[in-house]
Amino acid sequence: MKRHLLEAGDLDRVDATLVLDTAAQIEAALTGREVKKLPTLRGRTVVNLFYEDSTRTRISFELAAKRLSADVINFSAKGSSVSKGESLKDTALTLEAMGSDAIVIRHGASGAPHQLASWVRGSVVNAGDGTHEHPTQALLDAYTIRRRLGRLEGVRVAIVGDVLHSRVARSNVVLLHTLGAEVTLIAPPTLLPVGIGSWPAEVSYDLDAVLPKVDVVMMLRVQAERMTASFFPSAREYSRRYGLDARRMAVLGDEAIVMHPGPMNRGMEIAADVADSVRSTIVEQVGNGVSVRMAVLYLLLGGAPS
Ligand code: NCD
Repeated sequence: MKRHLLEAGDLDRVDATLVLDTAAQIEAALTGREVKKLPTLRGRTVVNLFYEDSTRTRISFELAAKRLSADVINFSAKGSSVSKGESLKDTALTLEAMGSDAIVIRHGASGAPHQLASWVRGSVVNAGDGTHEHPTQALLDAYTIRRRLGRLEGVRVAIVGDVLHSRVARSNVVLLHTLGAEVTLIAPPTLLPVGIGSWPAEVSYDLDAVLPKVDVVMMLRVQAERMTASFFPSAREYSRRYGLDARRMAVLGDEAIVMHPGPMNRGMEIAADVADSVRSTIVEQVGNGVSVRMAVLYLLLGGAPS
């Protein structure tokens, strides 16, 4: 493993598999235990540095570090000296001076975690940077697929929706390709990034044509907060062409699963009855996120096995 986890490309197949296997071992070790805690990172300090809003990812990293017995500092830009204009560099150096061993960062600027990694001695974990990457989300998605379908090699995955603004899509395409899955991206042409042809994935504009052929459908949130222009005529039109409703779900193969990284726009990219159906792994993804992030922190901080 490298010292940092900045993007999905930092993991080759061996490392990525090691993270998934370690997560499975951690999960097995904690199942049925009354005290869901391992002593592995006792005496180590993990800082969660969040410059952008987050529910799942922030809580998940906090819980992951706590379950490994690390000391955890949660730092959010709101209410800190960032609002007095303190730079990312000075903030990071301050945190390191106080003894942090790892910094988990979410930032609105693509590339911020790379910058941070050049300034600090500890490990940096990217928890989402702008529209760039979100590697631990891709890991927890891969973990969820492997757990549900028993494999990743040859699994056919459709990633549907706002690919343009999605760090989740970017990280998933890279990681799933590394792990031998076949990805098709489905979106209106306006929501695909320039240069999509060089991604290791197929591209389609036709959701109905692809659905019967896939094992996994991963729906992406329409990221209205990142949209500076109008990318589709109306919410209704978007949902009609690219939303997953019960009618569309019915054409999926028997074993196929439906994923979403959250937060969802129910009724827009995914219908409520689909999100709550037995095919949906949405709640499972959240639970798996804790085990996967425990594995990442454990492997990066090199804690000895307990
Ligand atoms: C994603 C994110 O923030 O990139 N959510 C998450 O981490 N679970 C996806 C999104 O915001 O749509």
